[in-house]
Amino acid sequence: MLRDFRAEKITLLHAVERGYATRADLEKAVRSGALAAEAGTNKSRFLKVADLEKLFGKPRGDIYGMHWGDPEHLAPLAFIKNHYLLPLIEKEFTGVEIGPGGGRWTQYLKKMKRLYVVDFYQEMFAEFSRHFTAANIIPIKNNGSDFPGIGDEEVDFLFSFGVFVHFELPLIESYLRNMQRVLKHGAKLLIHYSDKRKIMAALNPGFGVNDPDTMRELVTNCGYSVVQEDTTTMWHSSIIIFMRP
Ligand SMILES: C[S@@+](CC[C@H](N)C(=O)[O-])C[C@H]1O[C@@H](n2cnc3c(N)ncnc32)[C@H](O)[C@@H]1O
Repeated sequence: MLRDFRAEKITLLHAVERGYATRADLEKAVRSGALAAEAGTNKSRFLKVADLEKLFGKPRGDIYGMHWGDPEHLAPLAFIKNHYLLPLIEKEFTGVEIGPGGGRWTQYLKKMKRLYVVDFYQEMFAEFSRHFTAANIIPIKNNGSDFPGIGDEEVDFLFSFGVFVHFELPLIESYLRNMQRVLKHGAKLLIHYSDKRKIMAALNPGFGVNDPDTMRELVTNCGYSVVQEDTTTMWHSSIIIFMRP
């Protein structure tokens, strides 16, 4: 998926979707010779991403993950951001994001004093650093469900979106147990997970087998208290906010 997204050349229509420029402006640049275009099948035209960046810079749509929805514009994501995520973040916090991908949500989390971005796939960090490099953002390559390099009881807030939706219960449980070590007492967590009771998850073989009752029980059995749940905003998944007592 990442390989497709990060292709060297994309079609002119993809370039419009990613927000480099309007179709009219791209056509104009091609006509004037400022932008080289290569003919593809069905009258498509391929443009080099490097050329697009040189002319138009890096748009938000170049952040890997925006093709699943931009939290600034897609209503359910904007709701989750404004209603749940932003009120949970404080500048003085140390935070963790599990599975940042290209940084679609990191853009909101990075205002914390320190943010650990934890991912299992090293290649994801190369993609991530296209848009996000800062002294307060610390990438950590983990072994699947652990937090190497993060201190005991160091973390005030933990966030993960678009990641646990793909996990099966044993991996979720392993993460929930390993998180205990790094979380402060009173630390809050917001996790987005698969809800197979919803048709769009049931039809998606890439989504893990989970639902709100199962997730709530798992979270509680792992020693956390549930703060709030949203089982309606997302069409294939749900949100749970909980805390380490
Ligand atoms: C579908 S992407 C979501 C990216 C981003 N959170 C977003 O919403 O745009 C899944 C991310 O989870 C990461 N990932 C997959 N398995 C993981 C694991 N066991 N632990 C941490 N990250 C993992 C992937 O490398 C990728 O960054």
